[in-house]
Amino acid sequence: MQKNLADYRKSYEKSALMEDAIPENPMALFQTWFDELEASKGVEEPNAMTVSTIGIDGFPKSRVVLLKKFSERGFVFYSNYESEKGKAIANNPHSCISFFWPNLERQVIIKGQAEKLPAQESDDYFNSRPEGSQLGALVSDQSSVIPSRVYLENKLKKLEEEYKDKEIERPNHWGGYLVKPESIEFWQGRPNRLHDRIRYTLDSNSDWKMERLAP
Ligand SMILES: Cc1cc2nc3c(=O)[nH]c(=O)nc-3n(C[C@H](O)[C@H](O)[C@H](O)COP(=O)(O)O)c2cc1C
Repeated sequence: MQKNLADYRKSYEKSALMEDAIPENPMALFQTWFDELEASKGVEEPNAMTVSTIGIDGFPKSRVVLLKKFSERGFVFYSNYESEKGKAIANNPHSCISFFWPNLERQVIIKGQAEKLPAQESDDYFNSRPEGSQLGALVSDQSSVIPSRVYLENKLKKLEEEYKDKEIERPNHWGGYLVKPESIEFWQGRPNRLHDRIRYTLDSNSDWKMERLAP
């Protein structure tokens, strides 16, 4: 079985990324791009992002998670601390986040260290979630091998019964991660494969240095 995709080809024409038109702080540019993405209404889950970690098996692994907050501090997502990614981050916090926004012909790649959010912040977010999602966090020993779908459904039924009249507390194995950016690269597609790539890197004085990279 095979399929040749050599004729998939697209010219990127929508925008440009020029040094004189962008801010000194990459988080300000990220905010602008995110606002433009939301305004474009062309993406179903604009906050979906790919998080890559270095596993304890030595392999990189990427998976999609949802960005729940960004600020000067960095990028926040929630997950199971004992999942494959949780174990990877505990062993090696070096992480990479990437976004691909095809309707705007843009990509953003962020490298940084991931750390657990303070417990209070995870509690606040957990308490704001619908009950079904809260129970989901309790039900799933994320990334562990399970015998069947029925096993999961039975576990959920039991927990629904157990928590019928009880408040659901955030389990210790579930919470937020903050990825603190050390480098942020913005990619804007341009015609003839001469794309714009601007990388911001944090220097030892915590100032951002901006450089253009060859496409
Ligand atoms: C659109 C989308 C959103 C997702 N959001 C999350 C999320 O916010 N947190 C999470 O732990 N997993 C999320 N997942 C599931 C992850 O991709 C992944 O399957 C899970 O976290 C287990 O990954 P791991 O075994 O590498 O730790 C999402 C998947 C998709 C496709």
